[in-house]
Amino acid sequence: MPQRCTIRATLALCCMLAMTGAFALSLQSATHKKEPVDEQTLRSAAHRHGILISAAAAPTHLADAEYSAILSGEFSALEPENAMKFALIHPRPNTDPQPYDFAPADRLVRFAQDHDMQVRGHTLVWHRQAPDWVTHGNFTAAQLNAILRDHITKVVRHFGDDVFAYDVVNEAFNDDGSLRSTLWYNQPGIGFANGGTKYIEQAFEWAHAANANAKLFYNDYDNETINQKSDAIYEMARDFHKRGIPLAGIGFQMHIGLDFDDPDKLRSLADNFDRFAKLGLEIHITELDIRLRDGDAATLASQAKLYGEIVHACLQQPNCKFIQTWGITDKYSWVPQFFKGYGWGLLWDDHFQKKPAYFAVLHALE
Ligand code: XIL
Repeated sequence: MPQRCTIRATLALCCMLAMTGAFALSLQSATHKKEPVDEQTLRSAAHRHGILISAAAAPTHLADAEYSAILSGEFSALEPENAMKFALIHPRPNTDPQPYDFAPADRLVRFAQDHDMQVRGHTLVWHRQAPDWVTHGNFTAAQLNAILRDHITKVVRHFGDDVFAYDVVNEAFNDDGSLRSTLWYNQPGIGFANGGTKYIEQAFEWAHAANANAKLFYNDYDNETINQKSDAIYEMARDFHKRGIPLAGIGFQMHIGLDFDDPDKLRSLADNFDRFAKLGLEIHITELDIRLRDGDAATLASQAKLYGEIVHACLQQPNCKFIQTWGITDKYSWVPQFFKGYGWGLLWDDHFQKKPAYFAVLHALE
């Protein structure tokens, strides 16, 4: 049976070659421990937990090769840091022939698609970064209602299923749990002034009507632990849940400092996540950064520890599906500008070197 012989001979040869190959490979990994093929990334580690690891991103930075390599290599999702905000995406009134400017956000969406990443939308209703034509337009409530409805509908329809989730309403509560007085609520608002969370509900209904597939979130800061603000958000969520308002989850920004590394706060964070999860809501950590006063080794180590704890808190909570840092590198972080005297908040330093915090996040995800 010459044919059988040939097959046997080929198998034996293949076996030998494979063994030699394996030997060569083990030799190689013994000598060069960090072959790129073996290297873990945040995204590969997060994937095994069924969660997305994301970064806020700016289209202008995509031209920076180091930035875009990290964004696509390490993250499984992105969110426009500014490009989808009202003032940027809808800079001119509807009377203008080109009231919307989708190009910058579209560039981010295309980048994400090219690299098999998800896109999270931010944000449809916010009292900040609204354009002058809206804030200084002296519109009536009925006019503002039409403007906001048009805005939400056009943006959500434009991106369709390319955007899997939106922060529909951002930062609508004060620290004491009362509703923030804003253009959209009561100055003069969209027709529900002093009607409690009715205007928020309306925004969710408009977004849902524009794309029933999109997961719709309420997003805020200082709502991470159990406090007056998170209590108020919880009451809203419970009410929406009861009445079938299309709220899919809560965004917890988590712009925090090292003071958060406190057992009571971390316990309160877990309990807070838990009560929202019990309503069937998804938990997204949406804007994580941990600001520091210096970049000394000991301070960076404390930061790394806290990053690890936050990731751990998410992994402990089955409904926590998304962890996002508010940028990639300290070079482009919003922190120094908005928190005077602070910086060093992110996972890569301003020379694109991985910080201890990067390894702590990776380790927590492993
Ligand atoms: C910030 C951006 O990072 C800055 O570039 C911009 O100048 C102001 O807004 N909460 C939010 C984000 O929901 O949209 C904010 O982003 C940070 C605080």
